[in-house]
Amino acid sequence: MIPALRFAILTDLHFVPEGQTLYGFDPRACLARALAFLKTLPRVDFLLIAGDLADRGEPGAYDSLRKALADLPVPVIFMLGNHDSRGAFRAAFPDAPNDGNGFVQGLHVYDQASLITLDTLDEDEPGHHGRLCAQRLAFLETALREAPADRPVLLFQHHPPMDLSIPPMDAIRLRDEDAELAAFARAGRRPDYLFMGHIHRPITGLWRGIPYHVQRALMHQVHHAFDQPGRIMGAVEAPDLAYVTVAGGDLLIHDCSFTYDGPVFDLESPEAAAVATPADLAAH
Ligand SMILES: [Fe+2]
Repeated sequence: MIPALRFAILTDLHFVPEGQTLYGFDPRACLARALAFLKTLPRVDFLLIAGDLADRGEPGAYDSLRKALADLPVPVIFMLGNHDSRGAFRAAFPDAPNDGNGFVQGLHVYDQASLITLDTLDEDEPGHHGRLCAQRLAFLETALREAPADRPVLLFQHHPPMDLSIPPMDAIRLRDEDAELAAFARAGRRPDYLFMGHIHRPITGLWRGIPYHVQRALMHQVHHAFDQPGRIMGAVEAPDLAYVTVAGGDLLIHDCSFTYDGPVFDLESPEAAAVATPADLAAH
């Protein structure tokens, strides 16, 4: 029997150089807490980081991230987001996926699933929107063709290709959704599941028949001000690590609130049911 594929996803790390913080968050402390949790999971075949590795793309931010990941006992699959710099990233992580055109894209084939990771960073045009140019779309088409037919294809891209009822984020989503759908059509295959970051909010849905998952950021989150035009508003909500299991064609995603350090109690305990406030559950 083929063992299940089990992996972790983190996204939007927004690393800054050593000694700096962002909105009061120290990304090194946030990541250390996530990695400590990851080490408690039953098994993790790899960690995937879905873009916005750095906040302003400085070499010092990537150096800091490399040091922070140095002791991780599992491989890391890196992706880029709108806050990243491809050149500075490559200097720090020369072994990261390369699609042959310099984009940080890859096809990763495992026994239980194939992962396609895309690079939606647009360095040619200022702004935080996402782009899939002809070269990147060609890679996507080829990867979909080459992925084994007998197991699911999981597609990862930083930028969502759809509106998500948060107008200032919708304004900086992927601009090439029709071209992406056309690449699926040319390949004769659609991804079985789509994973994204960028929005800094937990969202699941269905896009043109494809189920998807958008993950909270490691750092600051985006406030759920639905359908409100204006600026992007931040929020200090707890981050998530996604723990994904793929086995026999089935996919399971647990969004783990890894910074939770409150009570864990027995639901069948009469004493626990009778406490005056949830804080009193610590003893049960
Ligand atoms: Fe981000």
